Amino acid sequence: MKIPVKKLKNGFEIPVFGIGAYRMGGDTTHDTSNDDQRDISAIKKAIDMGITHIDTAEMYGGGHSEKIVGKAIKGYDRSSLIIATKVSPMSLHYGDVIAAAKNSLKRLDTDYIDLYLIHYPNFKIPIKETMETMDYLLEKNIIRYIGVSNFNIEQFKKAQSCTRNKIVVNQIPYSLKNRMAQKDGFLNYAQTHDVMVAAWRPIEGGMLSKNKVHIVDNICKKYNKTPSQIAINWLISQDNVVTIPGSRNIKHLEENLGSLGWQLNQEDFRMLNEKFPEKEYFSLADDYWLKQL
Ligand SMILES: NC(=O)c1ccc[n+]([C@@H]2O[C@H](COP(=O)([O-])OP(=O)(O)OC[C@H]3O[C@@H](n4cnc5c(N)ncnc54)[C@H](OP(=O)(O)O)[C@@H]3O)[C@@H](O)[C@H]2O)c1
Repeated sequence: MKIPVKKLKNGFEIPVFGIGAYRMGGDTTHDTSNDDQRDISAIKKAIDMGITHIDTAEMYGGGHSEKIVGKAIKGYDRSSLIIATKVSPMSLHYGDVIAAAKNSLKRLDTDYIDLYLIHYPNFKIPIKETMETMDYLLEKNIIRYIGVSNFNIEQFKKAQSCTRNKIVVNQIPYSLKNRMAQKDGFLNYAQTHDVMVAAWRPIEGGMLSKNKVHIVDNICKKYNKTPSQIAINWLISQDNVVTIPGSRNIKHLEENLGSLGWQLNQEDFRMLNEKFPEKEYFSLADDYWLKQL
């Protein structure tokens, strides 16, 4: 299956649907009881089904997620893949970013990272120092593109003003249930400033697959689709939005891919947008991680 891509003016392109490797290998530390083979098989199957964007982080499984991704991509055409990984917020000083990127390369067992993101902002480390290091990594061909994650508009603008290169992606939580990106204006900013939003937790950790909302029920019947397919299609029907659902279960992966190749009509999109019950969220600046720093 050819996954459609979205493009920015500078030529950066990214498929609307990728696979997230959070919890593969453990949560934030290595879980030695993890079934690595199952996770490797899930990623391989995803690639066989046409998925090319694989999202991981040095933080996932204490680095073990990157090792799993590295093993899964062996034998595939590396140039056809978009491997995204993230530097942790505690590693944003010059030497730490360089060391983190090199360690990620080793764990991924690859020569370059396609998209390198700052996982969370860290107020205690000057963003200028971090962005200049990102420029260095890009200019040394260690990374192909620079991204950030969990940045609000002000943090994004500041980061962009500190780099010679374009920040192509902000990876943020966004789903039918979590509309922070609409409320804090980042979605509109991205759509008007040629930036891609990579929506994380698109089915709310599986919660949106369990249909308890009457309006989704009606839409599922109308389109003959499942709640997860509706939730993902709703996201990717929006300009400058792509997503990275997590799945280690092949049946879920196949189901989720059924969100592609069709489109909610404008009326149904609007209805879901307006009527789907949202959950209250703190702003990104109040995020848990920021309080840990
Ligand atoms: N930048 C950040 O700070 C950040 C934070 C969180 C996540 N992320 C990224 O975003 C990715 C996705 O987020 P997420 O994994 O937290 O949430 P998610 O994609 O919304 O949900 C994944 C969970 O939903 C289940 N699931 C998937 N498809 C399903 C289906 N059709 N029916 C029922 N259950 C289904 C999965 O179980 P199975 O494995 O059994 O399919 C898994 O437990 C992560 O893997 C990571 O790459 C980034």
